[in-house]
Amino acid sequence: MESIEIMQEIAKQVSVCEKCNLHLTRKRSVPGEGPINAHMLFIGEGPGFNENEMGRPFVGQAGKFLDELIRHAGYQRQDVFITNVVKCRPPENRDPLPDELTACAVYLDQQIATINPDIIVTLGRFSMAKFFPMARISAIHGKAAWVGDRLIVPMYHPAAALHQPNLKNDIIADFKALPLAIEEAQKKKLAQAQKRMEMEKPVVPPADSVEQLSLF
Ligand code: URA
Ligand code: SF4
Repeated sequence: MESIEIMQEIAKQVSVCEKCNLHLTRKRSVPGEGPINAHMLFIGEGPGFNENEMGRPFVGQAGKFLDELIRHAGYQRQDVFITNVVKCRPPENRDPLPDELTACAVYLDQQIATINPDIIVTLGRFSMAKFFPMARISAIHGKAAWVGDRLIVPMYHPAAALHQPNLKNDIIADFKALPLAIEEAQKKKLAQAQKRMEMEKPVVPPADSVEQLSLF
């Protein structure tokens, strides 16, 4: 299947999914949106009130702030893919429960594999915990780190940072530094591609041995 078809299939499955109890109270599920060849993938927590109404991620106040942050990194919202660790709204915006996170992870994992982004930016504690289960966000926010072959940058959640001046300054500085992490990821990708090409090169016999062969 083409990547675009895989993404459409994920969105279709999510729209009718009943794998956890969040389906009982959702209005619309929110699969996520953005170009499937995006260099950057943003992972938030879960749909809130507005997202549940519209079926789109980060469309409320936190979304406006996220758009601003993305511009601080030198990108536009339409350049990046945005999704969440759970695709349906937890009632009253409560934290997602462990069994909900587990049930929904298959969709996020398929999205990560299909988009294959250069870097993943996590927004808030729950998406950070997918990659750094024991970490404290206050200790590692803004610091890019490799998890396997993926470069992950954990950020504060924009909704949390919006109203706390200290966090707001931190998150803006962290987004301004994102281009450096992207550069690091792209350099590694390029080096890996070059290595693969080296290994796949056909072995050409040296010129003099070719000449000798042609004597026969
Ligand atoms: N907060 C999130 O974590 N995700 C959204 O989609 C909206 C608000
Ligand atoms: Fe399915 Fe995820 Fe929605 Fe739960 S949150 S019903 S697992 S799509």
